[in-house]
Amino acid sequence: MLVVDGPSGNGIGKAIASVLGCEFSECMHNLFPDGESEVGLASAVKGKDVLLVQSTYPLQDKRLMELLLLADDTKREGARSISAAVPYLAYARQDKRYDEKGNAVSINTILSMLSFSGITTLVTVAPHNAESLSTFNGRVIIVDAMAPLAEEVKKNVSDPFVLAPDKGALNMATRFAKALGCGYTNIEKHRNKLTGELNILNAPKADFKGKTVVIIDDMISTGGTIVQTSKFAYENGAKEVVVAAAHLLMAGNAYERITGAGVKELYGTNTIPYNRAHMVDISGAIAKALPSASPKQHSK
Ligand code: R5P
Repeated sequence: MLVVDGPSGNGIGKAIASVLGCEFSECMHNLFPDGESEVGLASAVKGKDVLLVQSTYPLQDKRLMELLLLADDTKREGARSISAAVPYLAYARQDKRYDEKGNAVSINTILSMLSFSGITTLVTVAPHNAESLSTFNGRVIIVDAMAPLAEEVKKNVSDPFVLAPDKGALNMATRFAKALGCGYTNIEKHRNKLTGELNILNAPKADFKGKTVVIIDDMISTGGTIVQTSKFAYENGAKEVVVAAAHLLMAGNAYERITGAGVKELYGTNTIPYNRAHMVDISGAIAKALPSASPKQHSK
């Protein structure tokens, strides 16, 4: 297999190739003066199984376009198969129609475009809702971020208790708590889709007295979810609050917001580059999740 890091591969492709002991190449990447991307392959792919690595953090649309251009080039140059590891998959949160007159189910569009460009295996880390990827016309491999995050958190916290900010994160909380050997629970939040306002709908009877509450989530964007959840933890006796999330988008002043709400430490993974948190390298987990057999061939 040949692993190719895209312009926002963030070094993950190189690390995967090193773990698997396979061939590696950077891609060719330039920006035209008007901002248009020029990307392409820097080595021959004919007859090879190729894994493209490109995370689609902001600027999401540019990252996605670069991935599509690279995949299409790989197809045209005669690769035997094309897999894409997209550690952070943009648009995965836009997975349902919540307003008759408004939003599109944009993740479906993204998945169709990836497939159209020749990608037959999609590997991603902690997507917002794994089921929403089922419309992809090919194989989907989901990489768990909780295990490597829990390993890192475990080194630094004592007497933890895991708290999920919504039902959707309960499954992750269960696995995280198991790894830490502690209890877990979840609250239920409601977000007004039009205003973005967050409220806690249902909360368990909780006593976090003396505990380090570890809030886990798939991602932090504005920080609003973590702010509400941290407040809840402190109101119920938490000694301190730390946060572990797979994808640290950290939009705007998210860091100031969450530390202002009492978050003492932040843990994330390198699906998105960020320098104000304990960063866990996800490359090993991605390499481990890849099928040892060669990926299925594309038919286009
Ligand atoms: C939503 O269900 C997700 O799992 C995250 O909780 C959410 O996207 C975080 O967004 P924010 O940081 O803006 O509250």
